[in-house]
This record gives sequence, structure tokens and C-alpha cells, in this order.
Amino acid sequence: MTKPLKLLLVAGARPNFMKIAPVIHAIRAHNSAGNGGGRKINFRLVHTGQHYDEKMSGVFFQELGIPAPDDNLEIGSGSHAAQTANIMLAFEPVCLRENPDWVVVVGDVNSTMACTLVAAKLGIPVAHIEAGLRSFDRGMPEELNRLVTDALADLLLTPSTDGNDNLRREGVDEKKIRCVGNVMIDSLIDQLDQAAGANTLERLGLQQGRFVYVTLHRPSNVDTRENLEVIVRELTSLSGQWTILFPIHPRTRGRMAEFGLSFDAHPGVRTLEPLGYLDSLNLTRHARFLLTDSGGLQEESTYFRTPCLTLRPNTERPITITVGSNRLTSVATLRDDIIQLLAAPERLGATPPLWDGHTAGRIVHELLHNAR
Ligand code: UD1
Repeated sequence: MTKPLKLLLVAGARPNFMKIAPVIHAIRAHNSAGNGGGRKINFRLVHTGQHYDEKMSGVFFQELGIPAPDDNLEIGSGSHAAQTANIMLAFEPVCLRENPDWVVVVGDVNSTMACTLVAAKLGIPVAHIEAGLRSFDRGMPEELNRLVTDALADLLLTPSTDGNDNLRREGVDEKKIRCVGNVMIDSLIDQLDQAAGANTLERLGLQQGRFVYVTLHRPSNVDTRENLEVIVRELTSLSGQWTILFPIHPRTRGRMAEFGLSFDAHPGVRTLEPLGYLDSLNLTRHARFLLTDSGGLQEESTYFRTPCLTLRPNTERPITITVGSNRLTSVATLRDDIIQLLAAPERLGATPPLWDGHTAGRIVHELLHNAR
């Protein structure tokens, strides 16, 4: 009988959890379907602990039905070098002990790159889910993580064909690249019924289409006083006409305190602790529009066709602009961009190809068929 395929699945930070959950569900479906006499899959889930607060991590495990990690490396926060190095030191013994057929990494956070480096140096094949995305902005830590991860990975699973084009341009062997679709949309589709039962709008006292959902956490937006001051001023001004829902990421909260900024005198800006997955889905679905610098929300709003303004000079997810409802903005153009957005239809764009809820099944197929 064929030996089971053994996977080490890596997740570390908030945006990883909705990408790893569908893969786990698809593995379980594969195994319980008797896999047509085919190869069984065993997996271990490794949580690096890059994010550790209940609201940044635990809630996603619970809502997305992710099992408790088999290994928690409990790395925590730190400078990029410290965090990356600590993840590598803690992940290496897990790889040596388990000697898996694949290390599977998702997204573009420090955990993604650190675990890829460790596995590649040990000669363990790496599969990267969400490969090929490029902002062409090396000032973003995530862009460096994407470049390193994709240069080292053995199987590059892209969410859309622009990813294939980027990889080809970088000289990646065509045989390593597969366009499988957007795995995060699997989680979204899977959780639509649960989300509908979460009564987010009622609990928060919101009316459909009458509020703006804001999330901002990128270092380029929040780590300098001048930028964050302007953002706070713009949100305050917007709150004259719109209820603003602003769940604040720990990085942003920390910077606001450091720079002495607050919305206390402006009740139209409703600041909240970071939200769970279901509440965030509901806000994305029912907002008049989003203002964000998150990668995931650009995609989720595209799926719901909710207009989205991305407060960044670039995006690694251009399909959300060409096919979807996303548009780039800046603090200087924000007011004009909002006026234009409000003059356009309330729902925009379309769902990109292969954002169909079946990406994880295609990923499992590729892992089985490309294993050594
Ligand atoms: C990380 C990812 C980013 C992703 C974001 C989503 C990298 C380089 N960046 O950025 O791509 O969009 O996650 O959230 O990997 N903190 C807490 N509790 C936590 C985690 C962090 O309070 O559970 C605080 C710490 O003070 C920490 C700060 O948030 O210093 C930033 O955390 P970190 O993981 O370094 O980066 P993020 O900004 O979250």
C-alpha cells in the first residue's frame, strides 16, 4: 500500500488562517471519501505564534473550524530580523523530526518566508499557496517575503493568472506553476450561512449600506506620525456624513497612543477591537464601501462587489481592480475618490475566474500529483 502523503501546514498570522482552513477541510474530505483507493494524506498544523492574541488568532480557529495546532512555536512579536530568526530556529527541529513530503505555506507574512527558508535548506519541498502576487514595491515587507518564498518554493499555486505571468517573468520554471484560484474565497463561501446568523449589523446598530468599513494597519500608513495624523483627520471629516466602523489593529492602536491621536471627540468614528471573521465578512458584504490597506479585504469586497478604496500606491492584487470593485486611493485624493465612488452604482465589478469555492480541492490534487 502507498505510504500516506505527509504535510506540514504552516500558519502564523491573522490573514493565514482563512487560507489554511479550506486546505484542512479538503484534506479531510479527501481522506473520508476513501480517496478512490488513492493515497491518504496525513498533516500536522504548525502555528508559529506570530499572532497570538485571541482576537488576532484564537477566534479564527474557532470560527473556521481549524483544529488546535499540533505545534505552537509561540514566537510572538519582534523586529523583522528577530521574528524571522526565531521562527526559523523553532521550525527547523519540527522539520527534522517530521521529515514531511511537503511544507505548505500560505500568503506573505514573515512566517511564510521563514518556514520556506528552513524547509528549502533542508531539501524539503515547499508548496506556496497564493504565489506570484507582486506589488513591485520592495518597501513593503510582504513583497520581500513573496519574492523569497517564490524563489525557493517547488510548487507555486497562484490565485489568478497575473501571478503566473509574474513568476514566468522572474524565470520560474513553468512546470512549477499552477493557477488554482483563490483559496480565501473557499472560506468565504463556506462561511456565508454562519455569517448570516451572526447578526453583526443588529449587534452594532448598523443599517445596510449606510456605513463605511475601515481597516488600516500597514506600516506605510500607520507608522509615521504625519501619515497617521492625516488619516485621522480625514476619517473624522468623513464621519460627519457616514458612520465609520473602524476595528483597530494592535499595530495601529499602538501608534495612535504613541502619537497622542484619538477619535474620542468624534463619536461618528466607532473604533472597535479587531473583529472576528464572520463579523468582518458581514461588514464587507453590507457596507456602502470599504477603506482599507488589507490584501484580504480587497479580495473579499471584490467577491461581494462592494466598492473598495485601497489606501496604498499599489496592490499585489490587480485583478481586484481590473475585474472587481477595488480602486487605489491616497490621503491627498481620498475626498475626491469618495465623491466619485458615491456617484457610481452601489455594487461593482465581477467575480474573477476560479474564485469559486473549490480552490482547496485543486490544491490537494496538485500536492498529491506533484509529490516526489
Ligand atoms: C502582519 C503581516 C502583514 C499582515 C498583518 C495582518 C508581516 C511582515 N506582516 O503584520 O502582512 O497584513 O500581519 O494582521 O508578517 N500584536 C499584538 N497581538 C498580536 C500580534 C501582534 O498586539 O496577536 C502587535 C505587536 O505589538 C506587534 C504588532 O502588533 O509588534 C505588529 O505585529 P506583526 O506580526 O509584527 O505585524 P503586523 O503589523 O500584524
